[in-house]
Amino acid sequence: MLTTSNVSGPPERIIIDCDPGHDDAIAILMALAMPEALDVLGVTTVAGNASAGFTSENASIICALGRRPNVPVRRGCSRPLVRRFVDATAFHGESGLDGLPERSALASSLPAESAQHAVDFLIQTLTTASEPVTLVCLAPLTNIAMALIKAPEVAGKIKEVVFMGGARRAGGNVSPCATFNVLCDPHAAHVVIDSGLSLTVISLDATSQVIISEQVLEEMGRLKSDVARMGHRLLTYFNRRRMDVYGYSADKTTLNDPCVIAYLLDRTVFRGKPANVAVSIDSELTLGMTVVDLDRRSGRNVNALWIDEVDAPAVLRSMIDAFGRYEVRAIDT
Ligand code: RIB
Ligand code: CA
Repeated sequence: MLTTSNVSGPPERIIIDCDPGHDDAIAILMALAMPEALDVLGVTTVAGNASAGFTSENASIICALGRRPNVPVRRGCSRPLVRRFVDATAFHGESGLDGLPERSALASSLPAESAQHAVDFLIQTLTTASEPVTLVCLAPLTNIAMALIKAPEVAGKIKEVVFMGGARRAGGNVSPCATFNVLCDPHAAHVVIDSGLSLTVISLDATSQVIISEQVLEEMGRLKSDVARMGHRLLTYFNRRRMDVYGYSADKTTLNDPCVIAYLLDRTVFRGKPANVAVSIDSELTLGMTVVDLDRRSGRNVNALWIDEVDAPAVLRSMIDAFGRYEVRAIDT
């Protein structure tokens, strides 16, 4: 597990592309808690769990609550490249961050949103970066695909794309064979996967092994900082909604996006294999399915590291430890 003592070298420079989203919010707060390991250059948001307007507002709220109001947040694409936009408000609520009663008050206190589009922020930041940057992709890949289409030369400034999505053994979570971040915009996923970039896929095969259990919630609940308590509320709401509204059993309340941050903090707690990953875009039946060739049977070249195993307790420990880094500022009476 990463501790200050075992951080070697300069922090990894990252841009988080996301659609907050309860699990995105937890991932952002984990990243902001570990500045010696992760240098968050910015947060770009996209239509996904909720509309582009809500996900952008939510990202700004989360950065402010994480005591980093100056992290650049940029609103991105409002719909997928080809498909009509289908959100996941069923799971996250209309705002994308339901269960946070103070959300609308916090949203109204935000400074004016930047006029710069997320795609242009990605292009500008990558173009001017002194070293290649890691893209942490926690949402449909529309922004990333658009940046590669608009300015293909930025590919040379992308160190690695680490993406939460796709499934092989796990099948899917929003269809029998597809995960939300791919099915929402399968054509964008195809563009990114086909781009030749260094791609690591933290698949549902791995994240479905990481469960937000009652014990994990209790441990989070024992942390005293206002940030940790807000994280506890987000996780509690997200669990309850999935169990009460969708009948999820306790062993299905997975923790998806934070696994990507845990991977960046300590890659040794995950395992995977080089693979060819292809996205089904021509069949309504299998739209968004990731076809994963781990054994070179397809004749297609390796284009990704497919992560499908994880030390789940270590990931959960990483989350708790990150939230434990927020110093106590406000202990609820
Ligand atoms: O399938 C899980 C993914 O879709 C997560 O990134 C979640 O936030 C949603 O975007
Ligand atoms: Ca997400």
